[in-house]
Amino acid sequence: MFFSIQTIALVASTGLLATQGVQALAVEERSTSLCNQANYGASGVPWKSNSSPGSFCSSNKPSNNKYWKQIPYADSYDKVRCSTSSRGRYNVCNGGNKKTNLPKKCNPPHKFPWGYSTPKTSTSSSAAKASATSSSAAAPVASSASSSAAGAASSAAASPAASSADSATPASAAPSASASAVDPLSYPVCDLSYQVQYQNYTRVAANGVWAGLTMGAAAQDASYMTYTLSTSVDDCLAACDQIEGCVFVNTYYDVNEEENYLPKHTDGVLTCAMYSTCVSTDNNDNWGGQDDPNTIVNSNGYCKSGACSS
Ligand SMILES: *[C@@H]1O[C@H](CO)[C@@H](O)[C@H](O)[C@H]1NC(C)=O
Repeated sequence: MFFSIQTIALVASTGLLATQGVQALAVEERSTSLCNQANYGASGVPWKSNSSPGSFCSSNKPSNNKYWKQIPYADSYDKVRCSTSSRGRYNVCNGGNKKTNLPKKCNPPHKFPWGYSTPKTSTSSSAAKASATSSSAAAPVASSASSSAAGAASSAAASPAASSADSATPASAAPSASASAVDPLSYPVCDLSYQVQYQNYTRVAANGVWAGLTMGAAAQDASYMTYTLSTSVDDCLAACDQIEGCVFVNTYYDVNEEENYLPKHTDGVLTCAMYSTCVSTDNNDNWGGQDDPNTIVNSNGYCKSGACSS
C-alpha cells in the first residue's frame, strides 16, 4: 500500500500525464512490492533459526518493537509481477494458482456423511458434489479413489450413514476405526478452498534436542516458496491465494520463549509456510531442536483442493 501512496505523491508533485502516471505506478510497484523479491521478501527457509519472514499478513501487528517494525504488511504479492509483460520470466506466474490433488499416501481428516456440510452450497449430496467437480483438476484421483472406496464405503459406512443422515448427531459420529472407509475427497474437511490435510501433526524426533520425544513437526520441502506470519490460519490461506502457484500452507507456532521478542517466536503468532506442491507429512521432519531449542506447536497442513472449491 505504501508504494501506491508514494506514487500518488510523485504523480501529484510532478504533474505527470495520466499515461505516464500508469507507467510510474508500474515501475514503483515493481521496485517495492514483495513480488519482486526472492521468496517474496522472506530470507531463508522457515526451518532454519536464522531465517526471517517476508511479511505479516494479518491486520494488526501484536508488537511494535524494532524487530516487528522491520516486517512489512503483506501486499498483493505477485499480482503485480504476473500482470506485467515480463510474466513469462517467472515460473510462479506460468501455471497460475492451480487446484491440486491431495498428495499420495495422504489420509486427511474427513467427515462422515451425517456430519458433513458443504462449504457453500448445502443442498447437494456428496455424490452430486463429487460428480460436479469431475471436470476439475481433481477428477482423475477423485474418480479412481471413489471407485476403490465406493465398494468398501457402500457396505461399511455410506449406506448406514445415508440412512441415518437425519437422525444421527455429529457428537456420536466420530468412530475413527471406520474412518478409513470414507473417501476424504468426497467428504473433505475444508477451510476456505483448502482441504485440511492434517492438524496438530506430531512425530517422534529422530535427532536434536528433543530426540526420542513426540514433538510437533513441520514441513521441509524443495517446493517451499515463502513464509509469512499471521494471527489466524485464514489469513495464511488468503495470503497463499494471492501468490501465483501457491497451493499448500503449513501453519504452526514456532515456539522459543527465550527469543519471543522476535516476530516469528511471538506468542500467538503463526508461521505460514507456503509451498507450490501439497507436501506429504513424510516431509514433516522439522520437529524443532535441530538448530535451535525451539518447538513446533499445532502444525496444520492445508492443500488447495478441487474437493473444497465452491
Ligand atoms: C496436539 O497434540 C499434542 C500431543 O499429542 C497434545 O498434547 C495437544 O493437546 C494437542 N493440541 C491440540 C490443540 O489438539
